Amino acid sequence: MKRQILYSPLSAKATKIMLLGAGELGKEVIIEAMRLGFFTIAVDRYEGAPGQQVAHRSYTGSLKDAAFLRSLIEKEKPDYIVPEIEAINLDMLFDLEKEGFNIIPNAKATYTAMQRERIRELIVKTGVPVSEYYYASSLKELKAACKKAGFPCWVKAIQDSSGAGSSKVKSPLDIEKAYERAQVHARGSAEKLIVEKNIDFDLEVTELVVRYFVNGSPRFAGEAGSLKTSFCHPVGQYQTRGGDYHSSWQLAEISETAEKKVYEIAKKVTDALGGPGVFGCELFVKGDMVWANECSARPHDTGMVTFASHQLGFSEAGLHVRAITGLPIPTVKRLGFDVVPILTPAASHVILAPSEGFDPGYNRLSEVMNEPGVSVLLFGKNEAHLNRRMGVVLATDPDVQKAKEKAEKAAHKIEMCTRQNPKWQKQDSLEKHIFQNKK
Ligand SMILES: Nc1ncnc2c1ncn2[C@@H]1O[C@H](COP(=O)(O)OP(=O)(O)OP(=O)(O)O)[C@@H](O)[C@H]1O
Ligand SMILES: [Mg+2]
Repeated sequence: MKRQILYSPLSAKATKIMLLGAGELGKEVIIEAMRLGFFTIAVDRYEGAPGQQVAHRSYTGSLKDAAFLRSLIEKEKPDYIVPEIEAINLDMLFDLEKEGFNIIPNAKATYTAMQRERIRELIVKTGVPVSEYYYASSLKELKAACKKAGFPCWVKAIQDSSGAGSSKVKSPLDIEKAYERAQVHARGSAEKLIVEKNIDFDLEVTELVVRYFVNGSPRFAGEAGSLKTSFCHPVGQYQTRGGDYHSSWQLAEISETAEKKVYEIAKKVTDALGGPGVFGCELFVKGDMVWANECSARPHDTGMVTFASHQLGFSEAGLHVRAITGLPIPTVKRLGFDVVPILTPAASHVILAPSEGFDPGYNRLSEVMNEPGVSVLLFGKNEAHLNRRMGVVLATDPDVQKAKEKAEKAAHKIEMCTRQNPKWQKQDSLEKHIFQNKK
């Protein structure tokens, strides 16, 4: 559906966007939607979630609860229902879609992307390269699978988030620990595990793909053929502690051959997922070789760098809003692909909580924020737990290495305290840090 007209958010003809999950990414999507004059509704499991602090209206409850979801949706009748988290009642999403509600990008893609086996099998079907992999449902099967994959290998719970139940298994001695970690820490399900051969990549990237309507479409959900695909420049990144985003940057240092492969692979995977919006495809790059890892059916946390590298309104959150609501996305040609231009190279680095507790405070801000090119986003979460993401530093510089350095240094200068832990502390994990480790 191509959009020409938009009515004020407080009018009876307002266009309503409902976010299911209202964390830091949802908050940005809401801000971008508000800037254009959409009416926004934030739903989250806890009161005061980041997105709830900026939306027109908010609701609190379990998104797994079918009756809760239905009651909200029947009441609000949103034009667009935008999942931002994985813990959502999927049966209800499928039902609502059948009834004509617009689920972004579509219920099937949300269902597929949230679980490793489903997304892996979808990716494999497209014929793009992936790491060698095996499944295991018991410790015995896991041992056999690890042996086949060789060491080091990766053991991951079938459904998880931020790598909580994943481990890099360096030798047979680590297998039991990895099995236990998956059972205890997986944020989803570890009844099945996937074992992957390690890929010794030079760099991992997120390809933010944007699928949107150009010439109009009879309906939204799953209409792969009527959508156009454009690409953001690949986002380079470091993941630490088994798979938690720590820093990201644009432009990623990869060859043009690899960059083309990144676009081609990401196009195939997102065509298979279908529907409009921004997708975050994770890929491994070694020289000119590229493997697909996984793909989210929504903006990606590493894509926060686009809040600084892209023009206002064109961050991954802004692109998501444009794509789902039928607004245009102008691009430039690069290597034969349609690419969203960047304004400047930039980097992001997370601000992680060094301890737990309520009412967190942040210190040394003026020192950090007095640096040209540095900005700080604090998400407004009122409760910290160890290594919870509380904010992000964004830094720009014509030289991406300098941008990374600025972001990393600033993020590690910021100190935090909570009621329970009143002493000011910095985040301390320096895994894969380029500049701090040099000292
Ligand atoms: N086969 C592999 N070879 C090399 N590194 C890997 C491999 N699998 C995972 N990794 C590393 O672990 C990180 C996390 O893995 P992955 O992306 O599969 O899980 P995740 O991001 O935790 O998934 P989810 O968000 O669904 O929890 C990757 O970003 C990468 O750094
Ligand atoms: Mg990942």
